[in-house]
Amino acid sequence: YRRLRVALLGAGSVGSQVASLLRQHGDELADRAGATLELVGIAVRDVNAPREVDLPQELLTTDAKTLIVGADIVIELMGGIEPAREYLLEAINSGADVVTANKALLATHGPELFAAADQVGAQVYYEAAAAGAIPIIRPLRDSLAGDRVQRIMGIVNGTTNYILDRMDKEGAEFADVLADAQALGYAEADPTADVEGYDAAQKAAILASLAFHTTIPLESVHREGITQIDKSMMDAARKAGYVIKLLAVCERLNDDAGGESISVRVYPALVDREHPLASVHGANNAVFVQAEAAGNLMFYGAGAGGVQTASAVLGDVVSAARRHIAGGVGVGESTLANLPIVPIGHV
Ligand code: NDP
Ligand code: HSE
Repeated sequence: YRRLRVALLGAGSVGSQVASLLRQHGDELADRAGATLELVGIAVRDVNAPREVDLPQELLTTDAKTLIVGADIVIELMGGIEPAREYLLEAINSGADVVTANKALLATHGPELFAAADQVGAQVYYEAAAAGAIPIIRPLRDSLAGDRVQRIMGIVNGTTNYILDRMDKEGAEFADVLADAQALGYAEADPTADVEGYDAAQKAAILASLAFHTTIPLESVHREGITQIDKSMMDAARKAGYVIKLLAVCERLNDDAGGESISVRVYPALVDREHPLASVHGANNAVFVQAEAAGNLMFYGAGAGGVQTASAVLGDVVSAARRHIAGGVGVGESTLANLPIVPIGHV
């Protein structure tokens, strides 16, 4: 097989698992990709920091910029806006395809990255950026491209679902369960992103952009977190036959003048215990998609977690490798850059 050079930026909860699986299943992945995926290095902040999995010390470097040079595929799993944005632009401009799980970056600078990729004929893959291991980006972008999505509703943050679920089932305290979610690798580096709904809002913006074939600015997403939810509210909800879940809702709205707008919002809601979303437990996510022709579709699975998310990242790496081998065309067109921005409705 032809060798493709893969550079990994970040070896935390997700990155360490990606490196491990890439090394463990290298031969199988090569057969699927039609190329040998050679992990040429892993950029981290501290090469001596303890890691969740054993990684060859000689692969670790603090020099991400040098690592990017000459890579065919760059996987960004550092998180945050800078320097992730800078590194991804450098990678794209040097001709690499990039894979990222960074919803914070995509929800704020997605169009810039997609435009840069368009200009040089590169691709941005981001299946892991919404709902962890659940395949939802490709279904919305590709499989449903011939349909008209009306509404998306779901649980798209694993940390908050894990917290609310344990508060509901065990009467646990918010702070204790948050610490567990962090220890399990579900939470963002700054968990405020999870508990204040920023992470879910970023994912909702990404999903709505794909579903409605436009660019939804993050600022237009209505956002509420779960920090106000306490034990007494959970108890009251339970007694009334409900459970509290952090929901993301993205929908087309029709106005009286026959026009259409889009509403995207994230907020804690009372969900009837008989509703399928009530039985989404732990760090799992679920996304319901309502489309004009297809009807109702449901996507369910692990919404957070290092190894689970690594599955989605590696799927993207195989897609990127196949595209390289095919001469850089065809598979997985991802850009939103040239699409119009439609007005956002009031929430
Ligand atoms: P972690 O915080 O666990 O890991 C971040 C990694 O990036 C660390 O290895 C860190 O190095 C490295 N890093 C951070 N900044 C720099 C820098 N400036 N230069 C070089 N290396 C750097 O993050 P996660 O693995 O949890 O998340 C990674 C990405 O995946 C994020 O965008 C996140 O939103 C997304 N994601 C996470 C999921 C999850 O369940 N955790 C699920 C889906 C998406 P060092 O180890 O030396 O500190
Ligand atoms: N912190 C995120 C969550 C990781 O809990 O859902 C997955 O995107």
